Amino acid sequence: MEIYDFGMVGLGVMGRNLLLNMADNNFAVSGLDIDQEKVDFLEKDAKSGQQVKGTTSAKEFIESLKKPRALMLLVPAGKPVDTVIQNLLPFLEKDDIVIDGGNSHFMDTNRRVTELNEEGIHFFGMGISGGEKGARMGPSMMPGGDKEAYERLRPIFEAISAKVNNEPCVTYMGMGSAGHYVKMVHNGIEYGIMQLISEAYDLLKRGLGYSDVDLQKTFEEWNQGELQSYLLEITGEVLNKFDDITGIRLVNLISDRAMAKGTGKWTSQNAMDLQSPIPVIDAAVTMRDLSTYKDERVKASTVLHWNNPKDGISDTKLELISQIKDAYHFAMITIYAQGMAQLHKASNEYHYGLNPENIARIWRGGCIIRALCLEDFRKAFNKNRELLNLMLDEQIAGTLMSKQQAIRSTIKLAVDKGVPVAAFMSSLAYFDAYRSATLPTNLVQAQRDYFGAHLYERIDQEGTFHTHWDQQ
Ligand code: 6PG
Repeated sequence: MEIYDFGMVGLGVMGRNLLLNMADNNFAVSGLDIDQEKVDFLEKDAKSGQQVKGTTSAKEFIESLKKPRALMLLVPAGKPVDTVIQNLLPFLEKDDIVIDGGNSHFMDTNRRVTELNEEGIHFFGMGISGGEKGARMGPSMMPGGDKEAYERLRPIFEAISAKVNNEPCVTYMGMGSAGHYVKMVHNGIEYGIMQLISEAYDLLKRGLGYSDVDLQKTFEEWNQGELQSYLLEITGEVLNKFDDITGIRLVNLISDRAMAKGTGKWTSQNAMDLQSPIPVIDAAVTMRDLSTYKDERVKASTVLHWNNPKDGISDTKLELISQIKDAYHFAMITIYAQGMAQLHKASNEYHYGLNPENIARIWRGGCIIRALCLEDFRKAFNKNRELLNLMLDEQIAGTLMSKQQAIRSTIKLAVDKGVPVAAFMSSLAYFDAYRSATLPTNLVQAQRDYFGAHLYERIDQEGTFHTHWDQQ
């Protein structure tokens, strides 16, 4: 009976496709789900000769696995993960490995590592990115925690992962909840870039009156050359999709209320805790939230007018598009820079031991934020593992310098047109603040001391000081 190499709990889209990917790589796999339909679906999709088995019985599932067992949970984050663990625990034995492959909050992962360690079970969290297609054809995977357990399963994960230059897009990230933390920041970056693309789309469409055909062509063109990325690629495809019912482009029929499962918000919340500024990701989370205020926005649109001036733009359409493209390039770099800086800080704070070059390496393929520029980022961290911010790398700084006029002009254009470009603006503000040797926060310090005697430091003397500001 104990013939299967790997078990999966949760045979939804991701679980099923990951198992089928393993079967393609000659592993014998077993799946568990409470839904018989999902179990049947898994077995139906397996090719002849492959060892793929599904069941709705936890006991049968556990007994089907080779010992020490290796199984992954791919169930919704939060309570379902704890419930599944509780249900399986009576069947598990010392030395079994349990992996949480979902988007769990890293704090939950820390707790589960401790709880399961007490039972002698190796537990580790692993971020998996790439969606349905990625799971089937090769995802990017971010395992962290129990290194010994990961090493035992390394051959399976390396076999099923995406490859770039023959290098697998999976590697051990670091201690504790490192894998889930890295995946959380991955998703924060994903939010930032998606927001940026949607703002460029808005500026071109509402601001400059681009037709749907021109929009599609623009994003397809941007995806050629140095900006090449998965998110730009799918944007071109999305814009080219026609609705079966009406025959018009589907994107124009989709409600603008954007949903979120929470990983972007967690990235921002934790960045605030760490005091690691990620303003573009924050803006992306905020703009998704604002998008849900549909009724208020509709009302406001009839009250809060802005008469978009028709003249005053001397640049040609070609010049404008090239400017917006460069502005996108600039802002995109700052989003990765913010995410990587947060990872650096988190690594110190939580003792993860993250290697930024490895993170850039495994993000080059398989995941949602894969992009050509990740190879440049990998090289930057290869030159200097302790690089505090990607913007300090000479080559990346050079790219930003060459694009900064473009982002300034793009923001001016958006301001004139009344098109909201929170991500572009936050990106430039971050850049301008980061490159300012002095900021106006001396005034903030003085105000704090004025009303709350919070003390301040001086630039000409050591120590802390308080002033009776209202006494002359
Ligand atoms: C991935 C994605 C995925 C995420 C979705 C939805 O890397 O494959 O990040 O894990 O769940 O993108 O996220 P939101 O619902 O929060 O947009």
